[in-house]
Amino acid sequence: MEKVLITGGAGFIGSTLAKRVAMGSEVYVVDDLSMGKLSNLGKQPNIHFIEGSVTDEKLMSEVLTDHQFDYIFHLAAIASVADSVARPVETHKVNFDSVLLLLEMCREKQKQLKRLVFSSSAAVYGDEATLPKQEESVIRPLTPYAVDKFAAEQYVLDYQHLYGLPTSAVRFFNVYGPNQNPDSPYSGVISIMIDKYQKTMRGEKGEFTIFGDGSQSRDFIYIDDVVDALLLVARSDQSLGRQYNVGTGVKTTLLDLIESLNAIFSVALPVIHGQARSGDIKESYADISKLRGLGFSDKYTVSEGLRKYADSIK
Ligand code: NAD
Ligand code: UD1
Repeated sequence: MEKVLITGGAGFIGSTLAKRVAMGSEVYVVDDLSMGKLSNLGKQPNIHFIEGSVTDEKLMSEVLTDHQFDYIFHLAAIASVADSVARPVETHKVNFDSVLLLLEMCREKQKQLKRLVFSSSAAVYGDEATLPKQEESVIRPLTPYAVDKFAAEQYVLDYQHLYGLPTSAVRFFNVYGPNQNPDSPYSGVISIMIDKYQKTMRGEKGEFTIFGDGSQSRDFIYIDDVVDALLLVARSDQSLGRQYNVGTGVKTTLLDLIESLNAIFSVALPVIHGQARSGDIKESYADISKLRGLGFSDKYTVSEGLRKYADSIK
């Protein structure tokens, strides 16, 4: 059976990927459980959990010495843009240093690797006005998170060009769906909204704070489509040494989201406004022609994805 390492595999995207991959492979997960949860992984016998940090050189060296992996998905990161603005030094260690460490260890130890896929971000494009974002669009990172993602992504691709390590990168736009942890003020916006709807429906205090006027837009993509994209990029020969936007090509504002979710839950979300976050991007959506070129087609519109997400928690 193939062996697959998923760092950050107890988190939102990682655990969904792990459960899919475990249907036909042995999966090893390294996660420090800072945002992820063991319960996200269920009880699949093919999933082996290793608790620890991807910045721990000794631990990572042991994992990469003990196993020869066919595929590595490096998803461990501090995923919040706003958190990186608050804590640039701490987030840099995870979001950049761990990537370079992993690349070096793979160069030395992983001789059977078929592909290492790195999770970069749409945040690398920043606020330059041209839309939709193509992979060749201007890169203008506005935050420590975005700078680290771009630098790490370039290292990942350079290791293919310089050393022949088989690598690819994906630039996720805004991913949503079940098991995204809503517990931090820095969590993904849809997970926070859904949590507030649940609280409102239970009669608890559930005010949602919109940072700014709510007209900011994102390209929201449902988790199952993201897992399809990750597997496609990992297994394609064409994607070697390349990066791919992973989105739907459609932009949705926060106000649009609230309107759709009010209808789905048949309740009006109580909303207050706060100051816009510094470094926040105003508008973002993807051109996904390059990913489509690998055979990708997204299965969920935002309204279908929101409904599926809502059904899963009702
Ligand atoms: P998440 O927070 O649910 O998952 C990240 C996981 O990494 C968590 O389980 C966390 O516990 C773990 N982790 C954090 N620091 C660690 C460390 N030092 N060592 C080991 N594990 C650590 O976030 P996610 O949404 O699943 O994001 C996965 C990846 O995709 C991240 O790299 C993120 O930057 C990237 N990404 C996510 C989105 C999105 O919209 N969710 C968009 C673009 C990029
Ligand atoms: C998200 C991801 C990031 C990814 C990027 C790609 C998370 C936590 N962040 O960042 O990993 O690289 O997409 O585009 O998964 N907002 C509110 N109220 C809230 C929370 C957020 O108004 O309570 C607003 C934010 O100010 C922002 C928007 O909602 O304008 C989206 O925020 P967030 O979900 O944190 O996503 P990004 O910053 O786009």
